[in-house]
Parts: sequence; C-alpha cells; structure tokens
Amino acid sequence: MSTAVETQLDLEKIRASFPALSREIHGKPVAYLDSAASSQRVEASLQAVDRYERRHHSNVHRGAHTLSAEATAAYEGARATVADFIGASDRNEVVFCRNATEAINIVARSWGETNLGEGDRVALTVMEHHSNIVPWQQLAERKGVEIEWIGLSENSQLDLDALDAALDKGVKLVGVTHLSNVLGTVDPLAEISRRAHAAGALVMADGAQAAPKLPLSVTDLDVDFYAMSGHKLYGPTGIGVLWARKDLLAEMPPFIGGGSMIKKVTQEGTTFADPPARFEAGTPPISQAIGLAAALRWLQGLGMDLVNAHEREITDYALKRLAEVPGLQVFGPAPSVDRVGPVSFVIEGIHPHDVAEILDRHAVAVRSGHHCAQPLMDYLGVPATTRASFAVHTDRSEIDRLIEGLLDARRVFKL
Ligand code: ALA
Repeated sequence: MSTAVETQLDLEKIRASFPALSREIHGKPVAYLDSAASSQRVEASLQAVDRYERRHHSNVHRGAHTLSAEATAAYEGARATVADFIGASDRNEVVFCRNATEAINIVARSWGETNLGEGDRVALTVMEHHSNIVPWQQLAERKGVEIEWIGLSENSQLDLDALDAALDKGVKLVGVTHLSNVLGTVDPLAEISRRAHAAGALVMADGAQAAPKLPLSVTDLDVDFYAMSGHKLYGPTGIGVLWARKDLLAEMPPFIGGGSMIKKVTQEGTTFADPPARFEAGTPPISQAIGLAAALRWLQGLGMDLVNAHEREITDYALKRLAEVPGLQVFGPAPSVDRVGPVSFVIEGIHPHDVAEILDRHAVAVRSGHHCAQPLMDYLGVPATTRASFAVHTDRSEIDRLIEGLLDARRVFKL
C-alpha cells in the first residue's frame, strides 16, 4: 500500500537527473527559472540521443540494411511513445515537425488554406503566443479570413461568453493555448471543444506549455489539433509534434513537398503518402524524436499527476512569496484558480529587463520582455514583464533566491 510519502516526487533524485543544474553562474549554483522558454535536458534524453547517434544512426524508411531498420524502429517507436503520452489512440495521428510553431503553421497552411476563404472567421484568444497568431494572420492576408479576438474574464481566465459570441458569428476554428506562457492560466479545453464543436468549429490547441505540466489526453480533451515542442519537455530542440484527428489529417494536403512524403512521382506529377509521412518531407529530426521520446518516458515514470501536483505546489509557493515584495504586481489568476507554471510580474520603478539582469547576478535565470505574446501585453497595458517559470525540478530554495534577488533589485534602484 502506498503512503503519502511514497507518492511524493524524489526532488533530489530528479534534480540530479539534470546535468545543467550543477552549473555555477557568477560563482553561485544556477536557479533555472526559465523553463517556459526552454527546459533543461534530462539525462535520460541526453543518453538516448548519444546512444542513437553513436550506434544506430542511419536514415529512416529507406534502407534494407540493419542500421536503417534500427533507426526506423527507434523513430517509429518514438512516435508510439508520443501517442501514448498524449493519450492518442493511433500513432499515425502524430506528425513530427520542428516545434509547436511549425505544427500550427502546418495546420494553417494545410487545413486552413483548404477549408477557409474570404469572410470565414478564426477566433483567437488574447493569451495566445505569437505561434498561434501569426500563421492565422498570414492566412488572413492570403485568403481574406477574419480574426475574432476572445478576451479574458475576471481573474485572467478565458471569457467563455466571448467565446460563445465568437462562435455565434460562425467561427470555423478556435485557436487557444492550453496553458498561457505568460499568465499560467489553464484553459478549460474540454469545455472549449464542447462549445466549439456544438457550433461546428474546430479547436487548434497550443500545448507547448501544458504538455510538461498536465496529465494529457487529447482524446478526453476532444480537441482537433494539438501542438507541442520537445524543448519544453526536457528533450532536444528541433523536434515538435502536431497531433491531429485521423480524419482531418487524411483530408489535409501536404504543406512541404520532397522526399519521403510521396506515393509516386512522375514527370506529370505526384501522389502523396498517407499521414503522417505526407507531412514529414525530407530526412526528419531522427535523434531529436528519439530524445523527446526518452524524456517523455522519464516523465511518465514519475507520473504526470505527481509532476502536476509538484508544479502547482511550487507555483503557489512562488505566488505567496512574491506577494511579500513591495511594489510587485503579479499578472494572471489568483492562486486558488486553475493556474500552474509561469508567473509574470512587474516591479514599480524598475524595468523588467533590469530586474532580469539583477537576478542574473544572483544566478537566477528568468525571462523578461513580451514573451512572444505582444497582444496580451497590450491587453494587460504593459510593454513587458519579468517572468519566472518552473519545472519538475524546481525547489523552494530557488524561489527563495528569486525573492532575495528581487529585494536586492529594489535596493539597487533605491526603492
Ligand atoms: N515560447 C517561449 C516562451 O514563452 C519561447 O518563452
């Protein structure tokens, strides 16, 4: 029988699994609070990539030789691992690409270009990262599509009445982040899907921030498209995932043409392979996919419920401690509301970049700026914020060092 103690994460062991956490910056151990921008690499992923590159590398889906068969098995095995991690029923619904941004571009270019035209509407939330805005704006330019914006209700949550109003206007697709990279707001995706589908709209969910933090089932969430990035999941850069419903993928034309994505090429023309190959032109990011799969297996080994509980506990602790810093304003939902991960704030009288620079002197790594979410910055009425963001390895002492650094910033600026 498990006890409460046994169900806690072993934080010391987890921290030892991240080589970068042993780095010192300016003579102090790094407190890495920038995982929303890019997470650190877990040892299991580093080793899987190393093993593959040293012993098994070859091209996939091409050769009759043993190395190619091994590489293909590892690459396709990685696809199965991703499908399992996100609760997809079919591995062929998993398309490997470069990152969440590319995944959303595939949808806009392929599904959007085919299904949307002059006067059709796409709804986007003001919380979106540029990755779930710019591809739709580009589509709007090319095809005359119109964009409806959905704002926030009290407490920095998605305004579901505004969603309904947008759906009433005949929106064909809702672009929504599963977890805001600025506010930490968790959007109620299952409910959004229910409302969107009742109105005949599809849902493009940006899961870049949510995937490392929430137990995930695209089947239960009933979304149509889900995007994520390996480098936010303790895996390599250069690997992302587009998950899409099988029937949608089957109808979508390819976005990028070339090798591997064809059935037959003649001088007259080309017929295309079935998904997912149709969307993976050229030699794919093989070792990156293998590195991502290893990171996902490591996360699964911890248990995503426990990962989520830990990250919520750390987020709550950070919010509690940040409230002790005079002149500091935190954006996003109250702690009691559904939020986890990134915490953005401003300190009256200090520019966010200066805050980040002073924190770096304390070896506390945070991001400052607009966080690729300029429409949200406009909505909040600030040009930039400082953002601390957490990971499965974050511990309370790092939050304490963040607070010490912020108090020091106030001293430096004589506040
Ligand atoms: N999307 C990343 C961030 O929020 C880069 O920082």
